[in-house]
Amino acid sequence: MLVAPSILSADFSNLGDEVKAICDAGCDFVHVDVMDGHFVPNLTIGPVVVEAVAKTAAKPLDVHLMVENNTFFVELFAPIKPEYITFHIEEEKHPHRLIQKIKSYGIKAGIVLNPHTFPESIEFLLEDLDMVLLMSVNPGFGGQKFIPSVIEKTKRLKKLRDRLNPECLIEVDGGVNDKNVRELKEAGVDVVVAGSYVFKHKSYKEAIESLKV
Ligand code: DX5
Ligand code: ZN
Repeated sequence: MLVAPSILSADFSNLGDEVKAICDAGCDFVHVDVMDGHFVPNLTIGPVVVEAVAKTAAKPLDVHLMVENNTFFVELFAPIKPEYITFHIEEEKHPHRLIQKIKSYGIKAGIVLNPHTFPESIEFLLEDLDMVLLMSVNPGFGGQKFIPSVIEKTKRLKKLRDRLNPECLIEVDGGVNDKNVRELKEAGVDVVVAGSYVFKHKSYKEAIESLKV
């Protein structure tokens, strides 16, 4: 399992050291939650802060957009050259076009599905995707309870992924911890996002290692 700690649960008064600490502790990606106060009822960070995070991080950035007007935000974050930019399918009229736009910057493209969204809804986009992110909470906040239906959704997505684009990663985000990570692995998840579980743990290294099942 690859592990992407979400810096949403980090100590923002000490963000540089927090980013260094999770990278030293062996994370695979640094997960950055961008919220605009419209698509979700919360507001987080913009390109100024994300650029500082990118400079500090020894690991690639995985930028999760939770915004209206995806194209505007893709253009805003593209110069920072994160490894991945993922956007919500529920908020995009022209996802195929936006995937090509993200890739035109040399950035890997991913789509995020809210808890209610069918995995089959992206069947005809899968061959163009580098990642599919399944939300296991309602987007907007860290520290929420894991929604178990994501297990069944992962299994269905994995069948599609294995047939259409075996290179595409399946990521799950929200309420992940050492208790549910094995079931996620067995269902076919490649990457877990974990915010509060990692940042509330006494040892970031132990927390990350406990997720590498
Ligand atoms: C929620 C975010 C998540 C969040 C996960 O909208 O997308 O990345 O930070 O936090 P935990 O792991 O605490 O559920
Ligand atoms: Zn996220």
